[in-house]
This record gives sequence, structure tokens and C-alpha cells, in this order.
Amino acid sequence: MNSLEQLVQQAQEDFCAAPDPAALENAKARYLGKTGQITEQMKGLGKLAPDERKSQGALINAAKERIEAALNAARDALSNAQMQSRLDAEAIDITLPGRGRGTGGIHPVMRTWERVEQIFGSIGFDVADGPEIETDWTNFTALNSPENHPARSMQDTFYIEDRDTLGKQLLLRTHTSPMQVRYARMNQPPIKVIAPGRTYRVDSDATHSPMFHQVEGLWIDENISFADLKGVYLNFVRAFFETDDLQVRFRPSYFPFTEPSAEIDIAFGSGPLKGRWLEVSGAGQVHPTVVANMGLDPARHIGFAFGSGLERLTMLRYGINDLRLFYEGDLRFLKQFN
Ligand code: DAH
Repeated sequence: MNSLEQLVQQAQEDFCAAPDPAALENAKARYLGKTGQITEQMKGLGKLAPDERKSQGALINAAKERIEAALNAARDALSNAQMQSRLDAEAIDITLPGRGRGTGGIHPVMRTWERVEQIFGSIGFDVADGPEIETDWTNFTALNSPENHPARSMQDTFYIEDRDTLGKQLLLRTHTSPMQVRYARMNQPPIKVIAPGRTYRVDSDATHSPMFHQVEGLWIDENISFADLKGVYLNFVRAFFETDDLQVRFRPSYFPFTEPSAEIDIAFGSGPLKGRWLEVSGAGQVHPTVVANMGLDPARHIGFAFGSGLERLTMLRYGINDLRLFYEGDLRFLKQFN
């Protein structure tokens, strides 16, 4: 093999081996640059006789053209490879589902809250809102649970360092019942109100949460009886659960602020809970002491109160079996209500 042929082969190999454009340009210089091997051969032509110069010149030119062709091919290959790796790096997976835009919805407990307001509003109940930080007097004493009364320990709660004007520590209300007294002291009978809201207790498991919701109901006038309580509550649960195929039962119970007191149970006539008695509310005739603490005369004013758990009503309506689902913020759960 003559030396020109070797030179061409060597150049082809060098160009192929160049890993990047800079290395390729360096390799090019070794053959085609000012002092490159082909250039040197050209320079050498001058020393040859005219005949030889012509034929050797033609050979060198042919070799040069092949080297240039190899160079161009190597340049193309490098830029193709570069383009390919960019394409790979910037690839977009068009099979991914779009991100979309999530729409918010109303929390199931808030739906119940709104529904309860709407149903009681439709039969003339006012809706009142009260403070979640309560005084010891309104949360307990005015409701006939004096200090050291055993009923207090069933409602252990969170205390705030600040004290009220009686020197008692403020607390997070354990129920919405203090709203009975607050509302009655600011309004004249007939008093017909519900007060939904957040309540707090030191309690946490599958059926208890440190924060939960209740709705208080209160109707006081000169002749409001247990029969009215029955009628109002039956009307409410039938509207709330959207069925008349449902029974209500009043089970004797004890609350300091009512006398007599009852737990209200309901039983559906059909569906998955058919025939089971389910507790939905505490209730009773407002205790005369509480009526007096409302600033009313117990000899003249009488009525009923109830307090129902909004979570409980929500769980029964939708068939939810774990209270904690309401507070975990899991969209898979929450989305089912919107
Ligand atoms: N406040 C009670 C509780 O949280 C519920 C309750 C019972 C409210 C009887 C009432 C009532 O208004 O009359 O356990």
C-alpha cells in the first residue's frame, strides 16, 4: 500500500475515533492544516520534475478529496449524535395524562351543616353563631354543671391561659349548648334557634376527634312541650335523610341542662342500616335552672333543646364508618362528595 493510501486510511480512522467536534478539528489539522501531512506533500511537489509533478499532484488531490469527504462524514455523524442525545434528554412523554385543573368542593360535614340550616330555616328557626373560646360559666355552670359536678369530667377540654372576669380560665367549648344561654340572653321569647359550630374535647379515636361539629337547637316559649320536640326532630331527620321510611325513638338519659333528658335514636326502614337503632342526638326539656340563667322566668317559659353531632349525621347519610376520614384531607375520600 502506498503512503498516500495509508494516509487516507489513517485520517479516516482518526476522524471516526474523534469523540467530539474539537477532537475532530484537531485531527483535521494533522492532515489538512497549514503543516498537515497533505499540505506538506503539496509543498513537496515543487521539487519534482514537471511530468511527475502532474501525476503526483493528481494523486495527492484525490487523496485530499477522500480525506475531506471522510471529514465531512465524521462532522455529520457527530452532529447527528449530538442532536439525538438532545432529543433524548428533552423528550416529552406524550402518553402522560394532562395535569388538568382540580375543582374544589364543599366538605361533607359542611354540606350537612348547610343542609341543617336550610331545613330548620324552612320551619322558622333562626341560625346563630357563637364563640369557640368560652367561659367556664357559659360552657358549664349556666348549664347546671357547677364546679366539681361529675358530668363535667365527661367533657374534658382544652384550656386557655387567659382568664375571664370571674378569674376562671377560658376554654374551648365542649358543646354548642352554651349558645342556648348566650342567645336567650340576647333575644326575647319566643326563642327558636339553631347554633351549628365547632366543638372540642380531649378525645381521639375512630369515633372521637378533638375537634368536631355539633348543632344546638332551642325552642322556648310559654307552651313548648316534648311533643313539639318529637314533631320537630322527626320532621328534621325525615327531611335530612330524604325518607319518610324512618322511625324515631326517645331513650331516657341524663344531661344536667335538661329534665327530663333523652337520647334520640333513629331506625331506617330500608337500606344497609335497616332496623338498627342509631343514636343521633341528645335532647330534653330545658332545666328550670337553665331557663333562669337565660334571664327568663321558669314558671312562665318552657321549651326543649337538642344537640346533634354533624359528623354523626354525615356518617349515617353517606355510610361512612370512620370519623377520621373527615379530617385527613384525602382527596380520594373528599372527591366522592362533589
Ligand atoms: N351538649 C350535649 C353534648 O354535647 C348534647 C345535648 C344533650 C344538647 C341534650 C342538648 C340537650 O341541647 O338538650 O353531649
